[in-house]
Amino acid sequence: MERRAPSPGWTGVAPVPPLPSPFPPAYNRPFLTEALLIRIKAIYPGSFDPPTNGHLDLIERGRKIFDELVVAILRNPEKDPLFSVSERRNMLEAMTGGFDNVSVDTFDGLTIDYAMRVEATAILRGIRAISDYEYELQMALMNRKLQPGLETVFMMPAEKYSYLSSRLVREIAQLGGNIECLVPELVAQKLHEKIDPAHKFEIAAQADRKSSEKKPRSRKKKL
Ligand code: PNS
Repeated sequence: MERRAPSPGWTGVAPVPPLPSPFPPAYNRPFLTEALLIRIKAIYPGSFDPPTNGHLDLIERGRKIFDELVVAILRNPEKDPLFSVSERRNMLEAMTGGFDNVSVDTFDGLTIDYAMRVEATAILRGIRAISDYEYELQMALMNRKLQPGLETVFMMPAEKYSYLSSRLVREIAQLGGNIECLVPELVAQKLHEKIDPAHKFEIAAQADRKSSEKKPRSRKKKL
């Protein structure tokens, strides 16, 4: 029997047809491979004067969708803040200390420049109500115009924080209202100290009283 010459490119091994993918097309390679390799870093810029439960809620949501989240406090020399930048930084660090993918930083100048410096690809901002939308949209579109590679991602905090703002918290605290459920405990304490410095001494005195109550009374030595 006459043998036919193998066709060019023939390796002697029959080609194996590709296995059907168990994933729907959107999850196929190269999408999946790329998605696994690319780490998405976002910044969450703001004034945080002071940080509130609404900010914390947004940080908790943001850290679930970004690999890394940097809470970036704006150093704004034009504003006259209640808390200094380092006070705000300390509070935010204490609030986010348990989150492994969240860090706190400060910046000045343009947000987009800071984002480029820290190699972030997204800006996280919160939208509480329609009233926030116009300002946030304007800022997001301007940032996109200045830096097209940077995306702004809006997230909504829990409804119970939709009326909460740092400005209202400052006002309520200054007028003696109750801020306990609006800000983390540490921030409430710092606000009390800031507005009424005597509060600090009262807390210290309370702590002293408590510790002396716990101590067993020293017995008088019998002579
Ligand atoms: O918590 P805030 O005050 O709403 O945050 C506003 C902030 C800091 C995000 C915004 O004022 C800002 O990005 N300032 C930095 C200067 C800048 O980039 N300006 C151009 C914005 S389009």
